[in-house]
Amino acid sequence: MPPADWKELLADSPHIFKSRPENLQTLAAPMTSALGERRQRPTLYPSPSPNWIPPMSKLGEYAVFLREARKTFRTTGAILPSSKFLANKAVSILRDLPPNARILEAGPGTGAVTEYIFPKLRPGDRLTLVEIHEGFANELRRRFDTDPKWIPHKKQAEVVHAGVQDLPKDEKFHAIVCGIPFNSMSPDLADDVFGSLFKLLLPGAQLSNFEYIGIRRVSVPFVKPAERQRMKQVAKVVRKYVDKYGVKDHRIAFNIPPAVVHHYRVPAEANGHA
Ligand SMILES: C[S@@+](CC[C@H](N)C(=O)[O-])C[C@H]1O[C@@H](n2cnc3c(N)ncnc32)[C@H](O)[C@@H]1O
Repeated sequence: MPPADWKELLADSPHIFKSRPENLQTLAAPMTSALGERRQRPTLYPSPSPNWIPPMSKLGEYAVFLREARKTFRTTGAILPSSKFLANKAVSILRDLPPNARILEAGPGTGAVTEYIFPKLRPGDRLTLVEIHEGFANELRRRFDTDPKWIPHKKQAEVVHAGVQDLPKDEKFHAIVCGIPFNSMSPDLADDVFGSLFKLLLPGAQLSNFEYIGIRRVSVPFVKPAERQRMKQVAKVVRKYVDKYGVKDHRIAFNIPPAVVHHYRVPAEANGHA
């Protein structure tokens, strides 16, 4: 039988604690919970608000990503969120934007890249996150409500649960950061989604997206001819937009899998570009 009170326990073992009595409560706190009591946590550090929720750890984010990716691998097209190296390169298009800029992130997933957009947001800017998968959209909303890193940006941001191709085309953006996995789509859908992104850009605006390096080459020996054909056609679609609007490609080795980030810019003079 454990002693009914932690003070009793301390009295039985005075040799364990040579500290001054005022420190004993601090030292004994884990013991009290081992005895099944619930006591106020000692305040070694300033106490956070009672509603404080720790920021989502990277492991926690990976777990949510894996759980949701398993449900919809076709539209997620990845097994892990992007690395900070990839994210930094993807958001590097967000400079020299006019005041009150409108920024779109298409396919934010758990928000691995979104966190790198936050430091670029200035007062007056607006961020729209459009995510096709409901589980991810809910996760993003949860983070805006509870994650201390996200809460300050909640007023500037909105989460839209939709395919980016379904956004009204009269909404225009100064920059789009896109995480959508074209390589796992049909060629027609890839063309539709890619074309929609360019229709949503204002003249002179920029877009970034990424694709994994070598995925096609690695999987070709293992897939059926029809799948091989699909991958080839999608590659052509991507190439069409890279050739038309591509500005620069950046290889990112520190990502799983390694990736290339494409930067694009639409012409400044006309908007009938797509
Ligand atoms: C490869 S994950 C990238 C997630 C995150 N941006 C990252 O880099 O870790 C692709 C994301 O795009 C979303 N997605 C796929 N097709 C989409 C579409 N048509 N419109 C909006 N989101 C889409 C998926 O649900 C998934 O969250």
